[in-house]
Amino acid sequence: MVLLEPSILSADFARLGEQAKEAEDAGADRLQIDVMDGHFVPNITFGPGVVAALHRVVHVPLVAHLMILEPDRHLEAFAKAGVQSLIVHQEACPHLHRSLQSIRKLGLEVGVALNPATPLASIEEIFEDVDLIQLMTVNPGFGGQKFIQGQTEKITRLEQILRKGGLKKQIAVDGGIDVTTAPLVVKAGATILVAGSSVYNERGSVKENLQALRDSLR
Ligand code: DX5
Repeated sequence: MVLLEPSILSADFARLGEQAKEAEDAGADRLQIDVMDGHFVPNITFGPGVVAALHRVVHVPLVAHLMILEPDRHLEAFAKAGVQSLIVHQEACPHLHRSLQSIRKLGLEVGVALNPATPLASIEEIFEDVDLIQLMTVNPGFGGQKFIQGQTEKITRLEQILRKGGLKKQIAVDGGIDVTTAPLVVKAGATILVAGSSVYNERGSVKENLQALRDSLR
């Protein structure tokens, strides 16, 4: 069962609560909040206050994707704001094992994300410590970017490593996921699709766009 996880990065920020509710009403399984600090990635977006506001209006699990430096400093604030899942970047955590343990101690789903150039080998020591691995299929920072084709093979390799190791983990894929790339990444082993601009755009409603994504997987 592939889970659909709209990312609010491409939503209308003037109507963020409504747009989050639209995704929930359209059957989104989870909602990804792209947290950016202007240092780890060039863009600046949301903090715990926005998460807390969304937590008041939607009931689907909120997933904070921390594209920030020194994420350890902010884990508790996001937990208090109501997230059910925290994803930190391997590239931003010099003491990654400790960061993941901190998330575990908060009672949240533990996720680690890898940028396109970061090898799977960089997280092979912590597979047991996470619930979810998120592979970026764009260079993080902005929505609407083009899917990096070569990453599909990386998804396949990760799926094989986890399956051979008997490790049941979610493989989330984030960046350029639409009706064309969704079937490719699911075939490669993705179990969660993070999609921003293919869900929130002028071409269709959130409901229509989410349905099109689901239909592309049939
Ligand atoms: C990093 C962000 C985006 C966003 C998805 O840039 O994390 O990947 O979630 O954006 P789309 O689906 O528009 O590529």
